[in-house]
Amino acid sequence: MSWVTDRELAKKPEISEAEVAKALDGACGQVIRNLTDFTDKFPRAYSEDGFYPGGKNVDWTTGFWTGEIWLAYERTGEKRLRDAGEKQMDSFLNRIQQKIDVETHDLGFLYSPSCVAGYKLIQSQTGRKAALMAADALIGRFHEKGEFIQAWGSLDAPDNYRLIIDCLLNLPLLYWATEETGEKKYQEVAQKHIHTALANVIRDDFSTWHTFFFNRETGEPDHGATCQGYRDGSAWARGQAWGIYGTAIGYRYTRREDYIPIFEGVTDYFLRHLPEDLVPFWDLEFGDGDDQPRDSSSAAIAACGMLEMAKYLEEEKAKHYRGIARRLVKALADGYAVTDPAVSNGLVLHSTYSNHSPYNTCNHYGVDECNIWGDYFYLEALTRLSKDWNVYW
Ligand code: GLY
Repeated sequence: MSWVTDRELAKKPEISEAEVAKALDGACGQVIRNLTDFTDKFPRAYSEDGFYPGGKNVDWTTGFWTGEIWLAYERTGEKRLRDAGEKQMDSFLNRIQQKIDVETHDLGFLYSPSCVAGYKLIQSQTGRKAALMAADALIGRFHEKGEFIQAWGSLDAPDNYRLIIDCLLNLPLLYWATEETGEKKYQEVAQKHIHTALANVIRDDFSTWHTFFFNRETGEPDHGATCQGYRDGSAWARGQAWGIYGTAIGYRYTRREDYIPIFEGVTDYFLRHLPEDLVPFWDLEFGDGDDQPRDSSSAAIAACGMLEMAKYLEEEKAKHYRGIARRLVKALADGYAVTDPAVSNGLVLHSTYSNHSPYNTCNHYGVDECNIWGDYFYLEALTRLSKDWNVYW
């Protein structure tokens, strides 16, 4: 396997303003085309042979589709997008009220791009109410002893006393809830969780654990393990990308200076393990020459994280990370974005949800397909590059 060198990376072209506009308009056109199928229904988490089937508002991923609708609405101002977004927020309110598939930490992934976004954009009281209920449910998963939000399963499950790196993107829902209500309890949980997470999931070389277990009796850190990565000690590409964006978001809300070197470390590890075309394989263990699928969604998530963090860094560093983000987005737009709706109803090809290996514990699905969060973060990255975007997170 081989990875791109820093020097080669620096020479890659950045996406231009005109290319951003073209890619953004193309992606918004695809979102609008999909409204017929996906207003009452939601696209499932991953496409099958390039096409998302429709389903109910279940699973951890439906908020990304509503987020795409809001991003397309921001770009075009089209009423049919706003109408669809409002309808979907009704579905999210019903979901949290009826407690449909909400026994998970993924409530931020679900409610930030759908309902917080709808509240910020059109002052939807439905969105506000649903998102605050979701924030209450999320803090209910916090373990006082271990000081973390449990990712999966029932809170008393003997084998699931752990956090996962992905949860960093669930925390903005809590910061928003404190901003909105003035109640500190949400922010306090977010603060404790991010502290515990960053202290444990980041290894000395700034690669990351996907999941980390704690001792249920004492709350002490116990051991790291992968679920969706290739093996325990490797760096699952999307986990590393959640680490990049999660640290940037953490900095946005806390301004803790010690998060800056963490951001730089996890980002630089990610960049040092990119293949020649800048779109990572599903695990950073793999590079050019390996017969393994890509995870294009990781490139989009990482680009969003770099663009967020660049807002707070001194100019030279900010320029560096903005430039890299523009290179990643160009790589996606030129080589991975869907340009023909006959090929796929998604936005970005060659993503990987869950690739089974001899050493991991995950099921095998959504491999080398579109994944709905990959589509969402690609659209978010393009939006970030097109204007000073008011974040949904
Ligand atoms: N948060 C689950 C995933 O990234 O697959």
